[in-house]
Amino acid sequence: MADHILEMRSITKEFPGVKALSGVTLAVERGEVHAICGENGAGKSTLMKVLSGVHPAGSYGGEIRFDGTTCTFSSIRDSEHAGIVIIHQELALVPHLSIAENIFLGNERRGRSGLIDWHRTNAEAEGLLRSVGLAEQPTTPVGQLGVGKQQLVEIAKALSKDVKLLILDEPTAALNDNDSAHLLDLVRGLRSRGITSIIISHKLHEVEAIADHTTVIRDGRTVETLDMSDPEVTVDHIIRGMVGRDLESFYPERESHPGDVVLQVEDWTVRHPYQDRLVVNGAGFDVRAGEVVGIAGLMGAGRTELAMSLFGRSYGRYICGRAYMHGREIKPRTVADAIDCGLAYATEDRKEYGLNLLDDIARNISGSALGKLSTWGLVNAQAETAAAESAMKSMNIKAPSVKAIVGKLSGGNQQKVVLSKWLLTDPDVLILDEPTRGIDVGAKYEIYTLINRFVEAGKAVVVISSDLLELIGTCDRIYALSAGRITGQLPVADATEESLMTLMTQDKELTR
Ligand SMILES: Nc1ncnc2c1ncn2[C@@H]1O[C@H](COP(=O)(O)OP(=O)(O)OP(=O)(O)O)[C@@H](O)[C@H]1O
Ligand SMILES: [Mg+2]
Repeated sequence: MADHILEMRSITKEFPGVKALSGVTLAVERGEVHAICGENGAGKSTLMKVLSGVHPAGSYGGEIRFDGTTCTFSSIRDSEHAGIVIIHQELALVPHLSIAENIFLGNERRGRSGLIDWHRTNAEAEGLLRSVGLAEQPTTPVGQLGVGKQQLVEIAKALSKDVKLLILDEPTAALNDNDSAHLLDLVRGLRSRGITSIIISHKLHEVEAIADHTTVIRDGRTVETLDMSDPEVTVDHIIRGMVGRDLESFYPERESHPGDVVLQVEDWTVRHPYQDRLVVNGAGFDVRAGEVVGIAGLMGAGRTELAMSLFGRSYGRYICGRAYMHGREIKPRTVADAIDCGLAYATEDRKEYGLNLLDDIARNISGSALGKLSTWGLVNAQAETAAAESAMKSMNIKAPSVKAIVGKLSGGNQQKVVLSKWLLTDPDVLILDEPTRGIDVGAKYEIYTLINRFVEAGKAVVVISSDLLELIGTCDRIYALSAGRITGQLPVADATEESLMTLMTQDKELTR
């Protein structure tokens, strides 16, 4: 019989107006990597919050047995004491504290006097950093690291706590392929040391590559647990369990009929806000009516900086270059100007810039389109609600009503709120930065369909994505950006992962 380190039986959890879990069963073997898959809002994060005491005993129904004992955790501290460590979907590091301070936050290394022993703190942190493959100094502020490295710091932090079960909630959602591969190797390394992991991910090929078992959850119920060593079990199998049907394809069909150039950008150059270097260097691109254009680039290539600097100078200094909409030069100096010019930019970082998490769905969606929804400066509440309701329906946003607080939605549903918000401004050019990050396969298809509908109405879309297959599946043309320069463009017929990668890594050979 299998040795189960964890058994969760008939777990139920209700929030006001939402039944998040209605009888979930999960059995995890000692020393395995166990994946949990399910659509946005299926209840994955909630289940892990129940397990780790974020939702304390008494606030949910059912039974949890871990390592031979029945658990009634009343806080995260209790579960950590038992050896369960969770790394949340939203990273929780403190940016202005050092790596070492973050690792030992709440768990400080003290000397006999009771004061923090900095020598020991930094020395131990250094050892943990090396064990996750980071060469950074322990004294470096966490805010200076990219998301990939922050994720590794989170793991180093977990390892400092004598972990038996590590829970990773969408650890690779924000990572590029290289960083993801590194992280997955690390999880394999933990497995060989006998540490059990639970990993939640929408990247089903990663799940296939790393998991020993996969439990599929749909609408707060366990559908099945799949043995990934069985050659019959494929990604399609997981998808069928998640959405309850077969998906014909990942990308909806679209006929391409590009019209006139809508947005043209020439010689766009942007300086870093406080360092003395160019983040975008003489970049030029255009997008036509009815066209989806992609921008491919590695982390740090300047993709987001290019988009944000165009979008009303929301990033960078000394921005110069020319931008034309329908052949007329535009000079948007603020986000409001940019919206007036017909631009919209849906951010990759929905927490920081995209949403007000404390406000409800209706307010968030209407936020950028207030001009369209008001008369004489007064927001028409009825129009606001109606617009939000129709967006909720067409985007299939899972929430009790448009009055639901955005911060309480599942990650993927928050992303759909961001997209709805920008679609409502009815822009001529919609720039989407990592539009499907953290989004389930079914919802991705819905978003691609929305993009198609939008361009079929004669609008233009620019997609920035780290997922090269997504660019190839959705775009007509793809530009490659490398170290702030456009290194080439390919019609989608000629674009492959290899040809794009070659352009994306070409910066060093360029002289200018
Ligand atoms: N604190 C909360 N208050 C109210 N409702 C909540 C809360 N947390 C979660 N929910 C609701 O419970 C349901 C399940 O959410 P959960 O975050 O577990 O989904 P998920 O499977 O992790 O989805 P995703 O893939 O989008 O992250 C959703 O309908 C969500 O809105
Ligand atoms: Mg989640």
